[in-house]
Amino acid sequence: METQEIISKPSDSDVSNIEWRDGQPYSIQFQDIYFSSEDGVAETEYVFMQGNDLHQRFQQLKNNQFTIIETGFGTGLNFLCAINLWLNLAPDNATLHYISTEKHPLSLEDISAAQSLWPDLNKLSVAFLKRYQSILNGATSLLLDNRVQLTILRADSMSALSKLQVKADAWFLDGFAPSKNPDMWQDKLFSQMARLSKTTTTFATFTSAGQVRRGLQAVGFQVLKQPGFGKKREMLVGHYVAT
Ligand SMILES: C[S@@+](CC[C@H](N)C(=O)[O-])C[C@H]1O[C@@H](n2cnc3c(N)ncnc32)[C@H](O)[C@@H]1O
Repeated sequence: METQEIISKPSDSDVSNIEWRDGQPYSIQFQDIYFSSEDGVAETEYVFMQGNDLHQRFQQLKNNQFTIIETGFGTGLNFLCAINLWLNLAPDNATLHYISTEKHPLSLEDISAAQSLWPDLNKLSVAFLKRYQSILNGATSLLLDNRVQLTILRADSMSALSKLQVKADAWFLDGFAPSKNPDMWQDKLFSQMARLSKTTTTFATFTSAGQVRRGLQAVGFQVLKQPGFGKKREMLVGHYVAT
């Protein structure tokens, strides 16, 4: 994967603009929350882990690697939950490659404050935060516990994905609600997802927006509606069928 050319040194305008509301991060720029105010960990577990059937797939892994691609790294909650599951369930000799895009990274201070909300993930968070500054300084990849490789692509999701040459096993489609961030949820993004998918590739997302459902179907994903987390009525999951 060519990561060097995807990453450019961030300018000040790239950084996130957040405020803390009731102890939780809120994006001023997108006017949206980073994770459920009811229970962020439970939401991630339900939407992204169960939505991609990761418990079973990690336990029954046939080869020794698995690739997750996420749109919108944010606070790293999805990342911490995914690696927690991986370290508990996947074979010891297997490697998880977690690739995430992020156009507006949180400062070290903000991401540390967000991750302090999840004491059960503290050990993994400490290991991650030690390296986060190097990612902010332009590093693209790191290893956690020798079983996890993280690549954060500091760029717009669409341009970052267009330069990747890797097949995803699972997609985490995050990146704020489509109504709040229409620039990201475009047909070009779905086309890139199809290019980076294979027949066993799954996706999950918190949104059930019709435009997302139709966009994914148009590029070859079979899409199912499921009950959403908490107050959300529906969400989408599915897998890639076109070859
Ligand atoms: C809801 S938050 C993601 C939450 C995250 N997955 C987590 O575990 O905390 C959405 C993230 O997408 C990022 N984002 C928004 N538009 C983007 C774009 N066009 N390209 C890349 N990242 C984007 C935002 O900066 C924000 O960090």
